[in-house]
Amino acid sequence: MSCCSQFLYIKSLARFPIFKALTPGTPIFPQNHARVAVLGASGGIGQPLSLLLKNSPLVSQLSLYDIAHTPGVAADLSHIETRAKVTGHLGPDQLGAALKGCDVVVIPAGVPRKPGMTRDDLFNTNATIVATLSDACARFCPEAMICVIANPVNSTIPITSEVMKKHGVYNPNRVFGVTTLDIVRANTFVAELKGLDPARVNVPVIGGHAGKTIIPLISQCTPKVEFPADELSALTERIQDAGTEVVKAKAGAGSATLSMAYAGARFTFSLLDAMNGKEGVVECAFIRSEETECKYFSTPLLLGKNGIEKNLGLGKLSAFEEKLVAECMAELKTSIKKGEDFVANMKL
Ligand SMILES: NC(=O)c1ccc[n+]([C@@H]2O[C@H](COP(=O)([O-])OP(=O)(O)OC[C@H]3O[C@@H](n4cnc5c(N)ncnc54)[C@H](O)[C@@H]3O)[C@@H](O)[C@H]2O)c1
Repeated sequence: MSCCSQFLYIKSLARFPIFKALTPGTPIFPQNHARVAVLGASGGIGQPLSLLLKNSPLVSQLSLYDIAHTPGVAADLSHIETRAKVTGHLGPDQLGAALKGCDVVVIPAGVPRKPGMTRDDLFNTNATIVATLSDACARFCPEAMICVIANPVNSTIPITSEVMKKHGVYNPNRVFGVTTLDIVRANTFVAELKGLDPARVNVPVIGGHAGKTIIPLISQCTPKVEFPADELSALTERIQDAGTEVVKAKAGAGSATLSMAYAGARFTFSLLDAMNGKEGVVECAFIRSEETECKYFSTPLLLGKNGIEKNLGLGKLSAFEEKLVAECMAELKTSIKKGEDFVANMKL
């Protein structure tokens, strides 16, 4: 790797083993041949996410799909001196070609929030987009791992799952709602408050990915941290509302894109590591679950060659966290049903 390439090394990403592999002289292992597709690759998340994926030696083929601008994004990224071959695919006619042979599909396609909107306000537009893209995944890469970023995640994961079921290709171990940004934010905020290195903090975040359904388990944080009740409550609320903090600061120009690209890349690299046989890879994600009375729920997951190897469950909760879980159930169930009903009523 040339010395210029070293500048692409992102220090904070050193917590993920794959980024360590970007240091000069590191061999590329033969099993690192993943074909990854990004659907919505020209967007605010899609572009920086694609850049991070292009920068990884784990990816050999990067397939960029969108309804706009993909020829330009693909041409631009293809000049980067890393081995992933980049292809651009524009519009529905080229969706099949984008997906054929893919091992992992990441979906950030869809409209983002504007100030005053909830994630659920995005349902009408994004439900159709996610259903259409999931339908194409079922047809062209039914065995791929599908990682959905598009909101409302609490409904889009039931949508993807129901679409895959309609095609008879649903594998619950391979469909993930990407909630990693909630973990990333929790780690950052806890580290700030306690004067810790954020790269060494790990807060599991369970539940869903909207407001009160986002439940950080500060009691399970490593290293162990303690907060007085009022601070714990304020910290929890900040994590739950962190997306809205960004939406307000961007003042109409969208929601989190750069931190989401980082989080999406972190999740994808963890998945690829696990698919390559690395042991002990754990990430939280919103998935089909038997851990609570909700059909879908995010908890820490042990990842493996075939996706979810083991659901590690909720673990021991504090009384405060138990109350948060109880309080999120009704909203989560409503969002899940909304996604399921949408697919039940749509023609594929
Ligand atoms: N899971 C999370 O934590 C999280 C965090 C932030 C944002 N999001 C969500 O991610 C989504 C994308 O956000 P963004 O800021 O990148 O939005 P954006 O508007 O900048 O980009 C969206 C992209 O999707 C494309 N697109 C629209 N319809 C499409 C279709 N049918 N097929 C393929 N591509 C299509 C658009 O052309 C655009 O390039 C939003 O739904 C947002 O709410 C999720």
